[in-house]
Amino acid sequence: MRKIKVGVIGCGMISGIYLKNCTETFNYIIEVKAVADLVPELARRRAEEFGIGAVYTVEELIADPEIEIVLNLTAPAAHAPINKLVLEAGKHVYTEKPFALSREEADEVLEIAEAKGLLVGCAPDTFLGGGIQTCRKLIDDGWIGKPYAAHASIIMGNAGDGMHPNFQNFLKLGGDPVMDMAPYYLTALVAMLGPVKRVTGSAQQLHKEITVTNPRSPRYGETVPVEAPTNVTATLDFHGGAVASLQACKEAFGYEPRMEIYGTQGILYVPDANFFGGTIKLKTATGELKEVPYSHGFTTDSRGIGAADMAHAIQSGRSNRASGRLARHILDISLSIFESSRQERHLTLQSSIDRPEPLPLGLKYNSLV
Ligand SMILES: NC(=O)c1ccc[n+]([C@@H]2O[C@H](COP(=O)([O-])OP(=O)(O)OC[C@H]3O[C@@H](n4cnc5c(N)ncnc54)[C@H](O)[C@@H]3O)[C@@H](O)[C@H]2O)c1
Repeated sequence: MRKIKVGVIGCGMISGIYLKNCTETFNYIIEVKAVADLVPELARRRAEEFGIGAVYTVEELIADPEIEIVLNLTAPAAHAPINKLVLEAGKHVYTEKPFALSREEADEVLEIAEAKGLLVGCAPDTFLGGGIQTCRKLIDDGWIGKPYAAHASIIMGNAGDGMHPNFQNFLKLGGDPVMDMAPYYLTALVAMLGPVKRVTGSAQQLHKEITVTNPRSPRYGETVPVEAPTNVTATLDFHGGAVASLQACKEAFGYEPRMEIYGTQGILYVPDANFFGGTIKLKTATGELKEVPYSHGFTTDSRGIGAADMAHAIQSGRSNRASGRLARHILDISLSIFESSRQERHLTLQSSIDRPEPLPLGLKYNSLV
């Protein structure tokens, strides 16, 4: 199989697992040729750690004619501007979430890709993991009957411990709970239940600023502005008929994820959609609760599977699963939650999307199709 050359822009925290998986699990189809970061030292460190030959500036990386896919692992505000540059240069792009900070930016990215016949991919790709793929199969095979309701929540701390090197990004739009964390749960819900038709949101911002209180942080004592809602609840009506509640909050402490799908014949306890595996439980109509084994692989941190899937899609001419269009729908849901809250009314979405194709059964660990 032809290896597709990849360049990675953004060598911060999350680049470690991407580079590990792209240079190990997915190296049968992807070859990481170069890395780049605004801070060249970070790119140099990652290149050394993963044996990558070239450390480029962003401009050099985008200009390299051998590179076919760019992975954009930069901060939220840089995603769409970089994605546009990459596509304009004739390369496919796979970006971290959020896909963009506005529908206009997102549409520009998709329009350039369409005009140039290029693919756009976007995180999260956790829905391609064994946890969500198994849950989807259970639903499709009728184990819970017809799904009529769901609950998804992620309740966590507000980054105020200052331990992430760029923790201030989590206090702005894009790093807020809806744009940063909800995409995992929303994408999993859409992959399992199909597109969302209508949203109703209630968004609160509890603080104007926070002070770093953890003495272990290099930025201990610093006060940073909060620029986005941090405590949000929404109701989501799906085209398929189900209604879900979503809670996304970065005002608590610890990390409390939860996801359940309620059907006419049973309840599915879905593992944390921020990860690839986790325990799956099913409660049948008789009240029996049992743990369900995975039907699918990729149950450990497989970040990069969305990009590998895209590399297969490029070679076979099919569409990619963690697609820009899927991410555009998730962005529409996220922005509509905020708008619904401000306007104090339900909002019907303009976007929709077919469920991405499930992964087939029986894939070997390091192969896709
Ligand atoms: N950290 C995590 O656990 C995690 C998990 C999943 C997804 N993500 C997502 O991945 C993205 C990156 O997160 P992170 O935690 O690695 O952040 P980070 O701040 O550690 O890394 C981002 C890197 O991008 C670089 N960068 C920013 N703008 C740039 C530009 N215009 N050109 C080149 N480089 C630029 C920064 O210098 C930095 O090194 C975010 O969108 C985040 O939502 C992070």
